[in-house]
Amino acid sequence: MVADELAGHIEDAGGEARIVRMEKASVAKLQEGGTWIICSSTYGTGDVPDNGQAFYKALLEERPDLSAVRYGVFALGDSVYPNTFCFGGKKFDAALSELGAKRIGDLQEHDARGGIYPEDAAAEWIEGWLESAQS
Ligand SMILES: Cc1cc2nc3c(=O)[nH]c(=O)nc-3n(C[C@H](O)[C@H](O)[C@H](O)COP(=O)(O)O)c2cc1C
Repeated sequence: MVADELAGHIEDAGGEARIVRMEKASVAKLQEGGTWIICSSTYGTGDVPDNGQAFYKALLEERPDLSAVRYGVFALGDSVYPNTFCFGGKKFDAALSELGAKRIGDLQEHDARGGIYPEDAAAEWIEGWLESAQS
């Protein structure tokens, strides 16, 4: 739902957006370059979600050169887990930046108990993020 919201705003702003579900994401596709937004929740003990495990593992093992990649991160978590809050998104952020990708803007944290729907938070966040991406 967050990805749908983000894609809608990108298209309204005149851009093109394609949603790739994490289980369909591949290192080869990412390595082609371009601008990506990672939307990741957190499960287990600060883990990336099940459908992103294979992609995350491939990033760590294959260590592709991602210097042609720019990215943003919308991380979902719950502050009831203070020691691993939003670690799914934070793990992707650390991996991408270590592999040479350049993050645009700050990592966005969404707290499931913060009282704001993730889609609403995403709609607000993407406006500033797009400005940063264009400058
Ligand atoms: C079993 C379980 C483990 C979780 N572990 C964490 C965690 O370690 N850190 C965190 O910030 N959120 C954790 N969460 C919260 C989810 O990441 C959060 O509710 C998120 O909004 C879920 O997004 P989704 O509904 O799109 O899957 C956990 C949730 C569940 C059910």
